[in-house]
Amino acid sequence: MLDQKIFVTQSSMPPYEEYIEAIKPLWESRWLTNMGEWHKKLEEALGKYLDVPEISLMVNGHMALELAIQSFGFPEGAEVITTPFTFISTTHAIVRNRLLPVFCDVKLCDGTIDESGIEDLITEKTVAIVPVHVYGHICNIEEIQRIAYKYNLKIIYDAAHAFGISHQGKGIGCYGDASVFSFHATKVYNTIEGGAVAFSDHII
Ligand SMILES: Cc1ncc(COP(=O)(O)O)c(C=O)c1O
Repeated sequence: MLDQKIFVTQSSMPPYEEYIEAIKPLWESRWLTNMGEWHKKLEEALGKYLDVPEISLMVNGHMALELAIQSFGFPEGAEVITTPFTFISTTHAIVRNRLLPVFCDVKLCDGTIDESGIEDLITEKTVAIVPVHVYGHICNIEEIQRIAYKYNLKIIYDAAHAFGISHQGKGIGCYGDASVFSFHATKVYNTIEGGAVAFSDHII
């Protein structure tokens, strides 16, 4: 019989003493927000770890998605092809940008968007694809890229489940136009609440 509990959803936390020691200088500096020392350190460390050219910390994964989509300036009412098999944030981020989500089915084998169904959903109003890497399984990046080039669409990956994953020797956040990570307490890597957007190009 196992005498050790295996926690499936327990959040990881740093050793208490080590954490308290690390944040002690904050009582001196009183710099708790707005690009403080730890903000910059984390951004740099994450950029290296995730192997992406550009990364910006956000308040959470949802806002990272919402802002990443907003940054492309799509016209109101434009269509975005996405997946229904995700956390509701993905759809909310599209709708809150006054865009219309168009759902593409997913593959039974791994739950990611079925790339063979995307082209049939493209209309003259389509501006972007928002695929989701599911539980560490990554989407068919090459095929989605091919479609995006062909129809001049942006790709914004919801990579909330893909922390630290690489593909063809590059960080997963290097693919598409932008990728969004979540550092929510339930995620593999957490900052209690937090997120980031990685742009594959220097557009902001
Ligand atoms: C696929 C997916 N997208 C977006 C989010 C939103 O991230 P956050 O909870 O950091 O806002 C989550 C979080 O559970 C998620 O699982």
